[in-house]
Amino acid sequence: MLQKSYPYYLANRAVAANTDLEVLDKYSGKRATRVAFADAATVRKGIVAAHKARDAMAAFPPDARRNVLEHCVRRFSERQEELALALCVEAGKPIRDSRGEVLRLIDTFRIAAGEATRGDGEVIELDVSERARGYRGMVKRVPIGACAFITPFNFPLNLVAHKVAPAIAAGCPFVLKPAEKTPIGSLIIGEILAETDLPKGAFSILPCSNDDAGLLVEDPRIALLSFTGSLIGWDLKARAGRKKVVLELGGNAACIVDADPGVDLDFVVQRLVFGAYYQSGQSCISVQRIFAHKDIIKPLRKKLAKAVKELRMGDPRDERTFIGPVVDDAAAARIESWIADAMKHGATRLAGGKRDGRMIPATLLENVPHACDLYKREAFGPVAMIEAFDDFDDALARVNASDFGLQAGVFSARLDHAMRAWDRLEVGGVIVGDVPSVRIDNMPYGGVKASGLGREGVRYAIEDMTERRLLVIRSGH
Ligand code: SIN
Repeated sequence: MLQKSYPYYLANRAVAANTDLEVLDKYSGKRATRVAFADAATVRKGIVAAHKARDAMAAFPPDARRNVLEHCVRRFSERQEELALALCVEAGKPIRDSRGEVLRLIDTFRIAAGEATRGDGEVIELDVSERARGYRGMVKRVPIGACAFITPFNFPLNLVAHKVAPAIAAGCPFVLKPAEKTPIGSLIIGEILAETDLPKGAFSILPCSNDDAGLLVEDPRIALLSFTGSLIGWDLKARAGRKKVVLELGGNAACIVDADPGVDLDFVVQRLVFGAYYQSGQSCISVQRIFAHKDIIKPLRKKLAKAVKELRMGDPRDERTFIGPVVDDAAAARIESWIADAMKHGATRLAGGKRDGRMIPATLLENVPHACDLYKREAFGPVAMIEAFDDFDDALARVNASDFGLQAGVFSARLDHAMRAWDRLEVGGVIVGDVPSVRIDNMPYGGVKASGLGREGVRYAIEDMTERRLLVIRSGH
């Protein structure tokens, strides 16, 4: 059961504000609950509190940080079903996917608990020449200071976890602005963090308007801005001044199915269905473009179209539902219009059907012209495209012919092809033997080109949230 209302968290404390925000059940469209909504003055207070908490957080010992993270792991585990239901309602995410995301939330905090006490240092022998005799260097990592986090609607728990958990492990205070459409998950995380002995001001979780979040982007007291969302991230970077910026901005992920994928096509189909359609394609690494070798495209097309047509669409609370709603009417209308435009320009529909409000049936198209929005831009909906290729290098070139570069998938039995894909694909990660949609929470995750800047995956986020500080010792003279 959801609560009637949720407070926000300012400097570790729950606050029930005068102004609140309605959170809709994305399936019924009805109000599910209300959350406290922060104004500009409150966001400023959060920034001041985080800035003041810098030293206390840096001095908060690593084992104490680990204890906080372990407390979260315990409490998330106890509240698993409640967290999954909140996700299911606020994001319209099918309950099975919601439960999966809660498990990933737990993984991410557990990984961070392990990292908190790892203390990554190094010793550098500096005597590289005559003039450097007697010098020795040591490097430790120190927390960067106050961080600002802005997170998207599609993974309201785990994409919050990928910023919050590394910040605690690294010793950085933070202010988080969760997505306005899906703030509940992050506020439950806030409730659990408030049970810990984190130093005062260590965290603020403030649903607020995009305008007011501009303060997080521009305030010079914030040392790092980490943003996950749309291409707007590049504009935020331009406004961020001297702060470090990490961006995770999505893509139009491709998957190559080679002539002899070395696995049975039924497995490939099962993985493509997951990769393209789970949580209605609302993932930055959802399979959007499928390049299939001409020798196998015929049976692949047939099996895939059949599997896509069988996907069950409906109420995300129903255990049997695979396709739930997309996040809002505007997103549904945009996706529908991109599909219509692709068909007008010659694409063939192999599976799909009429949109009903926010419900878009899983759609598979063939031969979408490359100039169409559906091909070039990020669809972020339950739609994928398939086309044939003849030559593996040509398939690699087609994957690369995109503004984006987050992850790519390759099904191939040939080691030379797998290696060539790894060498040549302009992406942050190549997944061989599976779809690009695979993400394990300790792997470096992030993109190149328009897809972003920097990497998450706890350890890699901690690198961004810390600075190297050098000590040089001269012994003897
Ligand atoms: C994303 O949409 O960028 C996150 C994908 C994931 O964590 O699985």
